[in-house]
Amino acid sequence: MFESVPVNPPDAIFGLNELFKNDSNANKINLTVGVYKDASGQTPIMKSVKLAEQILLDNSTTKSYLPIDGSPAYRTAVAELILGKDLSGKALASTAQTPGGTVSLRVAGELARRVLGVKTIWMSNPTWANHPKIFGQAGLEIKQYDYLDESGTGLDFEKVKASLSSSQKGDAVLLHTVCHNPTGVDLSSDQWTELGEIMKTKSLLPIFDFAYQGFGEGLEEDASPIRKFVASGGEAIICNSFSKNFGLYGERVGGITAISQTAEAAAAMQSQIKSTIRTMYSNPPIHGGAIVQTVLTDADLRNTWEDELTGVRERIVALRSQFVDKMAALVPGRDFEYINRQRGMFSYSGLSKDQAEALRNDHSIYILGSGRINIAGMNADNMDGLCKAIASVL
Ligand code: LMR
Repeated sequence: MFESVPVNPPDAIFGLNELFKNDSNANKINLTVGVYKDASGQTPIMKSVKLAEQILLDNSTTKSYLPIDGSPAYRTAVAELILGKDLSGKALASTAQTPGGTVSLRVAGELARRVLGVKTIWMSNPTWANHPKIFGQAGLEIKQYDYLDESGTGLDFEKVKASLSSSQKGDAVLLHTVCHNPTGVDLSSDQWTELGEIMKTKSLLPIFDFAYQGFGEGLEEDASPIRKFVASGGEAIICNSFSKNFGLYGERVGGITAISQTAEAAAAMQSQIKSTIRTMYSNPPIHGGAIVQTVLTDADLRNTWEDELTGVRERIVALRSQFVDKMAALVPGRDFEYINRQRGMFSYSGLSKDQAEALRNDHSIYILGSGRINIAGMNADNMDGLCKAIASVL
């Protein structure tokens, strides 16, 4: 049977990361996969995480299974982080721990199709390369809504609404809560309100992908699209990740939260989430979730973590501005301000596939073929070389 199996093409993101690793150029620059890097180019372990790990090392007594939906304290802490203290006390949230955001999205896809009878999911064009694959493999039909303006670097909200006008009652819509991946282009607060109304009027199910809480404006501000929607009485599924905001990439830790309108529905959703998980990965791994739970439930550790996260966010904003200033000096007459308006780790640079290839072949600079660059991969050592190379391919 194996003889007739075709080779699958390399992953659009991790495939390039592999190419980067094999590049022998000492001055190579990696702006592909979405991991934060500090000023020295390392992906650090946060201090708050190290401290929590020490506590866990000293105090944990067993490696026995967690409940199917994870530790109850983790679930409460995650719902509170997403919804805020006030709303999490009122909202009917069914939360489970998942191994990262990807699995959370896959569980959401399974739930949507198998339990909720959803047939179609709408996602932005462009979106994270893995989104259509995850939901496609969960058995949903993928439709796209337009997202960007003519320049390809800003939002066209009228186009978003126009595309969604052909959605049908009961369709799901995948929404990037903050720091849209791959573009860094987000909706404004008013646009979120308007979109929420459209979703409710048309009986569409929002699936919020929330992988970057704390990378946009702050932990509370970044959650506002979800909180606004939930506060106004809508059902929703939220898929969150702690890969980025805790730097827990390889620990694989995240969550899925369904918001219901009655206690009965919330209990039923919790039971369905559990039965979905049981057949996919049985129950979540312990360590990453225990770190997050320890940090979120200890006032000192939480303060340390929030300060560290603020540092990460501010550093990325500063890198954006340094990049824009340097590019403006190198390519006068071309406007790079859109990079300052985009948020989070990623920017849609406006570079074409050919230009991305030229960067890789001629300069050992790795960006995605879509033109997405990971701003967090820039630093004082590589900024000059990077900007000069980009200027040379433009
Ligand atoms: C990315 O978009 O680069 C990250 O979310 C990592 C991944 O899994 O693709």
